[in-house]
Amino acid sequence: MKIAVVLGTRPEIIKMAPVIRELGRRKASFFILHTGQHYSYNLDRVFFEQLGLPQAKYNLEVGSGSHAEETAKILTGVEEVLRKETPDAVLVEGDTNSVLAGALAATKLHIKVGHVEAGLRSYDRQMPEEINRTLTDHCSDFLFAPTGKAKAILLGEGISEDKIFVTGNTIVDAIYQNLEIAGEKGNTLDTLNSKPKEYFLVTLHRQENVDNQARFTSILEGLDKVATSFHLPVIYPIHPRSRKMMSVFHLEPRNLTLIDPVDFFGFLQLESNARLILTDSGGVQEEACILKVPCVTLRDNTERPETIEVGANVLAGASPNRILECSKMMLGRENNWLNPFGDGTAGRKIVKIITGGNNG
Ligand code: UD1
Ligand code: UDP
Repeated sequence: MKIAVVLGTRPEIIKMAPVIRELGRRKASFFILHTGQHYSYNLDRVFFEQLGLPQAKYNLEVGSGSHAEETAKILTGVEEVLRKETPDAVLVEGDTNSVLAGALAATKLHIKVGHVEAGLRSYDRQMPEEINRTLTDHCSDFLFAPTGKAKAILLGEGISEDKIFVTGNTIVDAIYQNLEIAGEKGNTLDTLNSKPKEYFLVTLHRQENVDNQARFTSILEGLDKVATSFHLPVIYPIHPRSRKMMSVFHLEPRNLTLIDPVDFFGFLQLESNARLILTDSGGVQEEACILKVPCVTLRDNTERPETIEVGANVLAGASPNRILECSKMMLGRENNWLNPFGDGTAGRKIVKIITGGNNG
């Protein structure tokens, strides 16, 4: 049985790492096909190095472009590799253009598709990710749902129950496997001269937030209010998309400590020691919940409602006053919620199922 692991962006590398690690442990026949959607060292290579992942056998080097450009290049590139390699199954993770194109290329060649992190829905079709994740679910053969809620969503869309497996989210595995070592090896706090619980952490990169001048401006105003009200530094490792749009819109954020994107150990260290996390990232909402750090989500909706239900997260949208109010509210929360995303064995479960259920 041969498996192709298709990935292309920062969150896919991080969340697929526990699956790749398990494939390696079992000495399974597999290879990595990198689409090259992310290519900057600090969004790509650094995670392979830090997480000890084998090098990708193929890199399509598609780079950046419009949605159609990225998706089309990945689609033709993946098809070519799959024709040559004839794997039995393709694994994709998440909701990026790489995921949709990888799944589509495979299913048209009648190769089984396994979708890791299936069944998430924001019900907001303005988000490119919502289109990607919905279409990918509907052309997949194995749907690895992180929670019972995600499974219920898939069943509600008519997907047959025998295709759905509730495994937990591989981000729990990634955190459990790396948190201790991040504490020992990460030096980001020292570099920034920051002390545990004496700063807020921000990430903000979603197209609907940063490509919209009014919305980006409004969120930055909210973050300024938070920084000045609490007299604490607000650290923002800035995604290249946001850096670019900040420059296009001539935005000059006040009271934010902008730094380059950091590696996974450094980021885990920053997250676990933050007093509060403000973000529009999917993965960061989950990580904050798992690490028991309160989270304010800078969006109007989330495909991770479990984080809100357990009391770890709140939706603030883009209004400056609401961002401040939500921050105050979350700082008053007791962080005694339970992690809804599983016990850190998702990678093992997924590999066991995709390789035909042997216990190896
Ligand atoms: C993509 C995903 C998004 C995910 C994010 C993770 C889609 C539709 N979007 O968004 O769901 O949350 O990755 O980080 O797939 N750039 C670089 N270096 C890189 C990659 C990108 O500088 O290595 C810059 C380029 O200016 C590029 C821009 O970032 O135009 C956007 O890159 P793109 O991959 O299209 O989307 P992301 O915003 O990264
Ligand atoms: N992350 C990182 N360094 C950073 C910012 C984020 O390593 O400077 C990690 C974070 O720990 C999480 C993942 O990147 O696992 C989230 O990716 P991103 O926010 O880019 O995408 P999303 O989850 O929104 O799709």
